[in-house]
Amino acid sequence: MKKNEKKDTFKFFDPDNSNDSAKIVLVTGGAGFIGSNFITYLINKYPDYKIINFDKLTYAGNLNNLIFIEENPNYVFVKGNVADKKDVKNVFEQFNPDFVVHFAAESHVDRSIINPDIFLQTNILGTQILLNYSREHKVKKFILISTDEVYGSIEKNKSVTEEAHLAPNNPYAASKAAADLLIRVAHQTYGQRVNIIRSCNNFGPYQFPEKFIPVMIYNALNNKELPVYGDGKNIRDWIHVEDHCRAIDLVLHKGKSGEIYNVGANNEWENLSLVEYILDKMNCSRSLISFVLDRKGHDFRYSMDSSKIKNEFGWKPAIEFEDGLAQTIMWYKSHTDWVENIHSGEYMNYYDEVYKDRNLETQ
Ligand code: NAD
Ligand code: TYD
Repeated sequence: MKKNEKKDTFKFFDPDNSNDSAKIVLVTGGAGFIGSNFITYLINKYPDYKIINFDKLTYAGNLNNLIFIEENPNYVFVKGNVADKKDVKNVFEQFNPDFVVHFAAESHVDRSIINPDIFLQTNILGTQILLNYSREHKVKKFILISTDEVYGSIEKNKSVTEEAHLAPNNPYAASKAAADLLIRVAHQTYGQRVNIIRSCNNFGPYQFPEKFIPVMIYNALNNKELPVYGDGKNIRDWIHVEDHCRAIDLVLHKGKSGEIYNVGANNEWENLSLVEYILDKMNCSRSLISFVLDRKGHDFRYSMDSSKIKNEFGWKPAIEFEDGLAQTIMWYKSHTDWVENIHSGEYMNYYDEVYKDRNLETQ
């Protein structure tokens, strides 16, 4: 932490404001899409909790996502790398958290295909370093935010429970599966109190524009081609980020240590149908759709059975897909500054690299 942030730290630990139920929560990757939504959710729901946002601010980290809470005395941002022991040691020594909710990751499949190494550093080594310091500091609960991708591709009419074997098919998914196994080891070998949450594809405000739904909304808004990989028949299950945040809250407070929870929305869409639906909702022409060369190792379908979290905690998605999507489209329309900031930086180099030479007509 920098010197000029000392004042915030002091307010953060004001002993006159402390009470027994107040928890200190270390959120890693809190400047990203789901992490920033989760911090906002947590601050609103538990105004006495103290939240440390520990984030390296990679291309995907954006403190503008948290502009409305940055002055909150119970919130502190600490810049740091989960894969750097020194950074992690410092943040644990300074704040001694009760809970760790670990979102920080390299999260995009297409980038992992281009450069897997950083995915192993952050997603695997970073998780182990956090686990080591969590053990040393007797953290009461460590939650890993994992993904349905660890199960690999699932045949039509089937869905997997938490017992299914892991069969990742791309570097991102493999690195997440490895992290899941390290959580298991922390519990089995060291008795650490842990949970894993495996959610399906999230959508909603503040999602980095490289992901499917924001790419389609942005391109439609700008009358650009909408690149659909392969034949567009691949299937994903879509959950609004707030429904995911509610599930994390329940698991954090009620999950039995060592348990894994699938968080699916039962809202499966073929990619092409979803793009058509988005275009229709935006009153844009379907002629903008452009089929492009498929992703390497592209998983056909993800589908989880989420009965466990439903039966144990009564969780179910609360946001209708149609409403959540309309809200998301509206959000991107009304946050052009947020999006343009990203489009003016490194992102366009990435976009060009991933989408150039992908046009099927030129293959
Ligand atoms: P994101 O890419 O939007 O954000 C990732 C955040 O992690 C960024 O703020 C980034 O700066 C930070 N980060 C990256 N490397 C770091 C490092 N070495 N040290 C500290 N911070 C670092 O990702 P997201 O979509 O919000 O996903 C968050 C988590 O949820 C990830 O673990 C991802 O695997 C998981 N997940 C995402 C989805 C989804 O649909 N987006 C679905 C299931 C699970
Ligand atoms: P993505 O948002 O990258 O999530 P994931 O691959 O982790 O599920 O992609 C969702 C689906 O959309 C996936 O099947 C790949 C496809 N896709 C496209 O067809 N075009 C695109 O430009 C992108 C980014 C994804």
